Amino acid sequence: MAFDYFLYKGVKFSPGSYSEELLNSVENEFQVLDDDVYIVTYPKSGTNWLIEILSLIKKDADPNWVNSVVIWLRSPWIETKEGQQQIKDVSRPRVLTSHLPFHIFPKSFFTSKAKIIYVMRNPKDIFVSLFFFAKIICHYKDPESFEQYLEDFLQGNILYNSWFDHVKGWMQMKDNSNFFIVTYEELHQDLRGCITRICKFIGKELDDAKIDLIAKHSSFEVMKENKMSNYSLGTKEFIDHTKGSFMRKGMAGDWKNHFTVAQSEHFDRVYQEKMKDLNVKFFWEG
Ligand code: A3P
Repeated sequence: MAFDYFLYKGVKFSPGSYSEELLNSVENEFQVLDDDVYIVTYPKSGTNWLIEILSLIKKDADPNWVNSVVIWLRSPWIETKEGQQQIKDVSRPRVLTSHLPFHIFPKSFFTSKAKIIYVMRNPKDIFVSLFFFAKIICHYKDPESFEQYLEDFLQGNILYNSWFDHVKGWMQMKDNSNFFIVTYEELHQDLRGCITRICKFIGKELDDAKIDLIAKHSSFEVMKENKMSNYSLGTKEFIDHTKGSFMRKGMAGDWKNHFTVAQSEHFDRVYQEKMKDLNVKFFWEG
């Protein structure tokens, strides 16, 4: 699809689902409520996995809701035109979603008691996931080639700009008690443990049997088969189902199947340069 991004405070957005006026109003007028929980991510970090987990937590592990209401209505994106309409029907406590960078997130969050769960993922896997996602999602520019798209990703020349800036921006919150970080890789390694920690963070008490049920219903295999969660119900204006599926592989380390050694080394050099001032060690760094 041919289109040009527009900039809002230096961040690239596509005209279909976003507008300057809306982004301005989300930043300055959106009313964050004290009992809100926000899932904040750079795209392809595991956003929808967290929506599924939090939907199940919200309903005390009863899968009826995730089996009957589409995922984007359960936790709408605060910065999109569609999301702003959908938020009106979300019951409290609201679980809402955003890919916004730190500097343009709703100002009212910072004076509220609301909480953020920031989901992170190895950026090489994010890139691979995004490369395939951009081909099927209409508000992304089609990648020209793996090589070219890799450069765009590393330079932040894509929707929501650079992964590096997103992470560096949000890491300013890392020591706040209302900010919780979880990685895609930890979710893979110990889903039950992550669900337990998330419950503790949002102040929800669930017994072991319910935690087990949540882990079961938020597994890749179950989500992939759930038409309310696998985006098979996405309209053709949003997703081109003939080109691929949203629930693609769901694995950690798939980048090894796609990067050449040279591409991986180039990525590592850019990563080290861009992250050198950030004194945080991430799960995937070992
Ligand atoms: P892949 O493209 O690598 O398969 P987001 O929700 O942020 O858009 O991220 C989408 C990525 O998360 C996709 O990765 C998708 O398959 C993966 N994903 C979604 N649900 C998952 C689950 N329950 N378990 C593991 N991965 C999941």
